[in-house]
Amino acid sequence: MLRGKKILLGISGSIAAYKSTYLVRYLVKEGAEVKVVMTHAALDFVTPVSLATLSKNPVIMDFYSDREAGTWNNHVELGLWADLLLIAPATANTLANMAHGICDNVLLACYLSARCPVWVFPAMDLDMYANASTQANLKILSKMGVKVFEATEGELASGLSGKGRMQEPEEIRDEVVHLFNQKTYWSGKHVLITAGPTYEAIDPVRFIGNHSSGKMGYALANKAASEGAQVTLVSGPTAITELDPRVDLVSVVSASEMNNKVQALFPSVDVGIFAAAVADYTPRQVSDTKIKKNDNELSLDLVKTQDILGNCGKIKSEDQLLIGFALETNDEIKYATEKLKKKNLNAIILNSLKDEGAGFKGDNNKITIIDKNNNILEFGLKSKTEVANDILNFISKLKS
Ligand code: CTP
Repeated sequence: MLRGKKILLGISGSIAAYKSTYLVRYLVKEGAEVKVVMTHAALDFVTPVSLATLSKNPVIMDFYSDREAGTWNNHVELGLWADLLLIAPATANTLANMAHGICDNVLLACYLSARCPVWVFPAMDLDMYANASTQANLKILSKMGVKVFEATEGELASGLSGKGRMQEPEEIRDEVVHLFNQKTYWSGKHVLITAGPTYEAIDPVRFIGNHSSGKMGYALANKAASEGAQVTLVSGPTAITELDPRVDLVSVVSASEMNNKVQALFPSVDVGIFAAAVADYTPRQVSDTKIKKNDNELSLDLVKTQDILGNCGKIKSEDQLLIGFALETNDEIKYATEKLKKKNLNAIILNSLKDEGAGFKGDNNKITIIDKNNNILEFGLKSKTEVANDILNFISKLKS
């Protein structure tokens, strides 16, 4: 139920920390990738060795893993890596620090860097929990968007009985499973995505290609899969190695191979998003042997490739959505709108090479989306993961 989800678990110093070892086990059992960040105070209650063994990842406790060698634990990367940050148990001290932006340990630094949902599970003695300061800090955190799970009633480590127990690890696991398995527009939808460049062979060692990295298509595939879609990614040659294991990858090399695969798949999908930078021309003949240099100039005779997106536009049914990309250098809106109409698309994602940082090479992109009713929506420069999010959000609101 949690396959492909990245969970960062923060553990602070409360006796309830022993329950977090079970929580790690449950989350890993559900398929989540779990990394643990703990405070030094938590060391009194659980060992990093148990947590590292259970999570299958090293446990982070300090800003540096080897201060002399200058090897540090990148809290910003960790914060951005996570799909969910759980702090369980969250002590009165950690909650107070979080509420006031204090950042004197690596767990707090991860919290400040995280862009994902943050959930806290307080655990402390009943009077500490009921204290006006703790309650005020919990209110501050709630207001800032942190989800606070109230402590539960029962027997406490002090021997007293009352409200202050951390939620049980099974309950926390169920909440996490629920969060990631809520039905979205994409749940169960079959999505076909094209990505990367195509290579058009000239001879056994040379080809005509382009600079597409494939990153935008892969980001779309990962995001759609994490939203519950069944994703087939038809990709030209790329150097990308990270792909959500739920994505069905079909690797191709040339435009004609990509066309064959896509035409076979398209009739059965709900949504097609074509981000590939397909070659428009291919050599008429591929030499079987390496072409030798001579004193003359060399001309290549090129023929047009199939317009893969255009072909799908011709057979698209009423209830299918088809989205294309357009990379333009001038008269961007005009050319993109023409492509949208000519290829019978529901929407087109425009990249302008005039926008610094946009396009198919880097990690960022800047897009404008035009739909078939001529609504035009401009976005700022963002990471390709965030752009993928914007694109999927936009598509989910389109009517076929
Ligand atoms: N596309 C395709 N097959 C091709 C060429 C393009 O499927 N042979 C798709 C791309 O994946 C993209 C869209 O069509 O979604 C537009 O690609 P682009 O190269 O901008 O447009 P072209 O139609 O090739 O027009 P031009 O190169 O003349 O701008």
